[in-house]
Amino acid sequence: MHYNKINKLLEKIFTKYGLSIQHSKICSKALINAELVGAYGHGLSRMKMYCDRIKKRVINPKPKIKIKKISQSISHIDANDSIGFVAADIAIKTLIKNTKKTGIGMVGVKNSGHYGLSSYFVEQAVKKNLMVWCFTNAPAAIAPYGAKKALFGTNPICFGTPSGGKVPFILDTSVSMINRGKIRVAAKLGHKIPLGVALDENGKPTTDPIKALKGVQLPIAGFRGSGLAWMVDILSGVMTGANHGGKVRDPFDDFKGPQNVGHLFMAVKPNIFIGSNYIKRIKENIRIIKKLPKIKGVKEINFPGEGTKKRYKKNMKKNIPIPKSIMEDLRKLNAF
Ligand SMILES: NC(=O)c1ccc[n+]([C@@H]2O[C@H](COP(=O)([O-])OP(=O)(O)OC[C@H]3O[C@@H](n4cnc5c(N)ncnc54)[C@H](O)[C@@H]3O)[C@@H](O)[C@H]2O)c1
Repeated sequence: MHYNKINKLLEKIFTKYGLSIQHSKICSKALINAELVGAYGHGLSRMKMYCDRIKKRVINPKPKIKIKKISQSISHIDANDSIGFVAADIAIKTLIKNTKKTGIGMVGVKNSGHYGLSSYFVEQAVKKNLMVWCFTNAPAAIAPYGAKKALFGTNPICFGTPSGGKVPFILDTSVSMINRGKIRVAAKLGHKIPLGVALDENGKPTTDPIKALKGVQLPIAGFRGSGLAWMVDILSGVMTGANHGGKVRDPFDDFKGPQNVGHLFMAVKPNIFIGSNYIKRIKENIRIIKKLPKIKGVKEINFPGEGTKKRYKKNMKKNIPIPKSIMEDLRKLNAF
């Protein structure tokens, strides 16, 4: 189906579930972006989950979001259990304003929910010529190094900067071997997951996504990935006043209350030390790396975010494929 048509459908569903037109548009655009970049685990496959949570009032469809100004550079947002997309949208806009004023900005968010792809929000600030860092915590998926039980989320780390070209440099990565959305989609579609990304409940490596969801996901690079997950939990959870230490609720399985996810967004003007030389220098940096001799089978060295943009552009020209079971979800949400 064409992405414009799906966008309209999603807006219709969100407004039907009680979101304002403005908030419905924000959420639909973010979900369509996930589909266009090929992040299917963060797109339409989550629509039913968001609507179920709104229906059970563990996502507040009419949040009264409070923005507390701490200084010219720093704001603290209480998202009032809004859907994560809306909280992140307000946060990134606030971050841009704060950073433009002072050269450096920070926004912490509590009482939010799952917001999908960090890069979607980070890109908005990078397009305003800012360098951005963004962190969010997520429900328990990874066991801290040495522990038997999952506690950290897949806690993505995102960094973006203008690259001097049309495509921004955006590194946006989970600290798990694969993101949980991919495992959820594999479970829904009856696919296997790669070996080496998760263990089952008994600590045995598994390729069965259902067993993986009940067991633990593996962090990138062993204790280093576990440490990064912990850092993200501190920055986005402990520091902002959101849930942390494994208390962020799983949006698919735990309807006992709101998730209370936390996010932290930080930005600087990249030219603070070297003026307009920054763009010259980053272009030079990318040029040096791209020119390196390549290993067999690699035609081009891409910087983070480059491949994502290529996929986005290619997919814009095609229909978005919707698997049968997800189409069925959308039908049940009574969209058409
Ligand atoms: N909201 C949440 O709770 C949550 C949790 C986990 C992940 N996520 C999101 O899921 C998305 C996907 O995460 P992921 O860990 O699967 O990312 P990924 O593994 O697809 O990509 C990670 C990073 O590596 C870069 N990359 C990929 N292939 C590359 C190559 N060949 N050369 C150079 N760079 C390359 C990508 O541009 C990206 O920046 C992210 O947007 C993340 O924010 C969200």
